[in-house]
Amino acid sequence: MYQIYFDREKKQIEVAEGTTILEAQRLAGLRPDAPCGGAGTCGKCQVMVKGQILRACQTKIQEDLHVGTAGTLSLEKAVVLTEGFSRPVAFWPGVSVHSIEFEKTVPGDKRSDWERMLETLEKTRVKDARHFLPDPKLASTLYERIKKGGSWYVVHTDHEILDIRDHKRDYCFVAFDIGTTTLAGYLLDAANGKVLAVESRMNPQVQFGADVIMRADYALACKTKALTECIRRELDDMIGGLAEYAKRERTDILQICAVGNTCMHHLFLGISPASLVHAPYTPALSQSLTLSAENYGLTIHPKGQLLILPNIAGYVGADTSACLLAVRPDQKEEIMLLLDIGTNGEMVLGNRDRLLTCSTAAGPALEGAKIECGMRGTEGAVDHVSFQNGSWHYTTIGDQPAVGLCGSGLLDLTAQLLKNGFLDKSGNLNSGQKDPKRFLLVPPELAGNKKGVYLTQKDIREIQLAKAAIAAGIRILMKKLFITEEDIACLYIAGAFGNYMNPVSAGTIGLFPISLVERILPIGNAAGEGAKIALLNANEWRLADRLAESVEFVELAILPEFQDCFVDELEFPGEEVAG
Ligand code: FES
Repeated sequence: MYQIYFDREKKQIEVAEGTTILEAQRLAGLRPDAPCGGAGTCGKCQVMVKGQILRACQTKIQEDLHVGTAGTLSLEKAVVLTEGFSRPVAFWPGVSVHSIEFEKTVPGDKRSDWERMLETLEKTRVKDARHFLPDPKLASTLYERIKKGGSWYVVHTDHEILDIRDHKRDYCFVAFDIGTTTLAGYLLDAANGKVLAVESRMNPQVQFGADVIMRADYALACKTKALTECIRRELDDMIGGLAEYAKRERTDILQICAVGNTCMHHLFLGISPASLVHAPYTPALSQSLTLSAENYGLTIHPKGQLLILPNIAGYVGADTSACLLAVRPDQKEEIMLLLDIGTNGEMVLGNRDRLLTCSTAAGPALEGAKIECGMRGTEGAVDHVSFQNGSWHYTTIGDQPAVGLCGSGLLDLTAQLLKNGFLDKSGNLNSGQKDPKRFLLVPPELAGNKKGVYLTQKDIREIQLAKAAIAAGIRILMKKLFITEEDIACLYIAGAFGNYMNPVSAGTIGLFPISLVERILPIGNAAGEGAKIALLNANEWRLADRLAESVEFVELAILPEFQDCFVDELEFPGEEVAG
């Protein structure tokens, strides 16, 4: 066993010989940034050991060490999108609070206190209360209450009583969007649906890899437990933060609704993602779930419920079901395209007559991963780039010196290189600089790092692969629906990418048909909005399963025409786009 000292964090841990420094960082709870999950390919896990810069994931511990982790990601500084488009829904939550009052027990009445209470409830307002599940613990409080007389408050769902109280409490709900990269949590007032607090964080599972495949691989190699515990702990901590901010008690939270892609869904619930990474790529479990929050590491009301929206298919998860609840294309006559670009690209096309969905393995390139100077949308990331009168301009998040390119900056830079002749349709870069296969945007002397910010020919190829996967997915869905891009009335773009990217840049590189640029509506964190809707309106929650079932899944990988379409879409478009 060896002692490892993390100097910057002032932490020490004992680990067995042969443990990697990255693993030691995880064991010490340091949440290192490891986009490739420790495969040794991203180079973003650098640490300083004995004056040498080493990749933590490739360095096995053979002696006591002092480790400098200056490159460790600050998980708290990420810009996380929490706002989202949502349609108004009637406030009719699945949990209600009713006051009841009833006469003292009379001799000869053979009904139990519990039965009498349910009958009183049914007579006053609650349909079918007589069939509610019995609860011995709550029943044991009834004798004293009846003896005392007066009115009390019953908190119930449509099939069980959650609580009985003397006084009305300020109950609330929590909605979670569990993204692969970021987490968003919302505390809602159970009396009126108002948002009381919002909290966002990076998903701490990023220390096991940037995308779902790396996380799933880690889970399969080292068991799901580490990833499950990691996300449950973080969500529970967020609940504490939300309650504290709004000056509410954790125990007053009655329901939580969580959504995420299929891999996040499985890892949170402690389900092995094996079925997602092996053909035919199906989820282990799809239908909506009502669970006890307590059993999933979430400390709220002792009978608090955890609602999970349904998955649709292997790589079309509960987050897409939530987006559908937020947009409800099944009610519309006009055809819409819903696009959610994250580490995967999920899309839904159609209207009330027919809805089709598919998922494309776009990879995390458009989020800045796999790009030499790519980074997440944190301080110092170049987020917008323009080329005017022969000179380049850019802005960075937080107005900090540039240290890398996030998704929106990457898109802008690629589009500008294309429009201004530095990049041809096939993706060949000729930067006109000393190294024509590398475009230097920010020289080292102006950057916040030592190498500057640049884009390489290899980066361009990664962008082409990602954009071709999405564009081909759209083309195939249009073909299956027998429509052209002219028939699409609206392009909803969900997620942070849609909010921060320049749509003209996205159209210019051919991420979607150029003509759709004019019809884009960024809908922000629509998945989070869908989770809120499921809490605020019980009918919408019940509808989610039907909606998920009605969407037809198109498996691109088995379609012979997908490969041809993908190859066609690798080229950048030649059309001119205004802006
Ligand atoms: Fe070490 Fe990617 S190179 S985590």
